[in-house]
Amino acid sequence: MKGYARACANIALAKYWGKCDEELNLPAVPSVSVTLDALVTETTVERDASLKADEVTLDGALQEGAAGRKVTALLDLVRARAGVSPEDTARFARVVSVNHFPAASGLASSASGFAALTAAGARAYGAEVPLEELSSLARRGSASAARSLFGGFVELPAGVPGDGSLSARQLHPSDWWDVRVVIALVTRAPKAVASRDGMRETARTSPYWSAWLACAPGYVHAVKEGIERRDIEAVGAAMEASTFAMHASAWAAVPAVRYVRGVTLDVLDRVEALRRDGTGAWATMDAGPHVKVLCAGADADRVAAALREASGVIDVRVARPGEGVVVT
Ligand code: PMV
Repeated sequence: MKGYARACANIALAKYWGKCDEELNLPAVPSVSVTLDALVTETTVERDASLKADEVTLDGALQEGAAGRKVTALLDLVRARAGVSPEDTARFARVVSVNHFPAASGLASSASGFAALTAAGARAYGAEVPLEELSSLARRGSASAARSLFGGFVELPAGVPGDGSLSARQLHPSDWWDVRVVIALVTRAPKAVASRDGMRETARTSPYWSAWLACAPGYVHAVKEGIERRDIEAVGAAMEASTFAMHASAWAAVPAVRYVRGVTLDVLDRVEALRRDGTGAWATMDAGPHVKVLCAGADADRVAAALREASGVIDVRVARPGEGVVVT
């Protein structure tokens, strides 16, 4: 009747941007990520016969409206998988989710959130669901969540329209490679455009959309090969190329879908300066203005110190490759 799960967020080293099937939430391009130990979501799902609907609390705040409906939609998939009938008295659940992220950072928590929700929900509804299938279910909430079921280095292939079985898979465990992701927070404001909307508008109006689709698999190939060889220069260069191509495709949407701000560019200058001075550091951004910097474990302190000095940076966190979902 009750399930608990803990999942980490992840950062894409080769980006997912755009869907080939909105209904099944299937990505149009493949992506590769590393799971991050420093960004954790804990979620409890408890069935309760006294409830007439799901009750969702996120970081202490009751979620009504769209956010609550997204949780219920995911739980509906879990309930269907578990064979819970509409007449079941304990059909609905109390969901309590807590993000252990830098306070109100605007960092995307949907990946860890939907991963934890799916795993805790399956436990609460008594379904023995293999990890791959949990990943496939979590993907329906947020495609990046499919990757957060797994630890270490993870691939999510591109989808095939109409085939809802797509799941992520682990490429290498967390101890494969001693790298760090240094996260520079530049604002506490929530993101301006949801990734779902940004992707849709990019696909609908950007003249660079087809170029993005053509290039994305090449970045994935280069990132996978680089991880295999533990070649941080190769992975860093491909990650930056993927990041800028993704953002360029979005900038060319009409009107532009733009996530970076002035302070983002200042941090990017810092990262380039670090490289000029001989420290291996490479930057990436997602659907927001924060910058995440990939570096070797041995360089993390130097990179973090440089980012702390950058004007406009309000917090810096260092993450290691993290573990996959834990369920009890
Ligand atoms: O899964 P979503 O809807 O949160 O989209 C994630 C998109 C990016 O973060 C920009 C890239 C990625 O692969 O995580």
